[in-house]
Amino acid sequence: MNSILVLHGPNLNLLGTRQPEVYGTTTLEMVNSACVAHGQSRGLSVVCLQSNHEGALVDAIHAAKGVHVGIVLNAGAYTHTSIALRDALSSVELPVVEVHLSNIHARESFRHVSHIAPVALGQICGFGAQGYLLALDALAEHLAARNA
Ligand code: DQA
Repeated sequence: MNSILVLHGPNLNLLGTRQPEVYGTTTLEMVNSACVAHGQSRGLSVVCLQSNHEGALVDAIHAAKGVHVGIVLNAGAYTHTSIALRDALSSVELPVVEVHLSNIHARESFRHVSHIAPVALGQICGFGAQGYLLALDALAEHLAARNA
């Protein structure tokens, strides 16, 4: 079964209690369970990882090559700052869908810039935890079209 890496960046371990008015009350564990179940329904196995450390996220992206067929990435605040994450994604050449729970374009101007977007298939933001499932659907469709 094709495998997808769902990768979460800094502070997303606090989902459920972190600024619930912005990020909702769904915990990371709930997000991950929903991703695994949704992946299964689309014939994909899903592995979820979270780190607060930029280098660990780079390592996880490198390790994804040859193991996973695509990545769903919420890089948290590193979205707006990390050339290293962007370079890692370019290096492994795996299809990536960028996710944000909140609508980053409706928030502070520093959140409007994404270093991930130029190397991603696309970006899904503003739909809360549902965004991860939409991202899995987008990846599944992309992979099916690519393999057709
Ligand atoms: C976020 C948006 C980022 O701007 C922020 O730094 C996060 C979460 C989101 O999911 O909405 O940590 O990626």
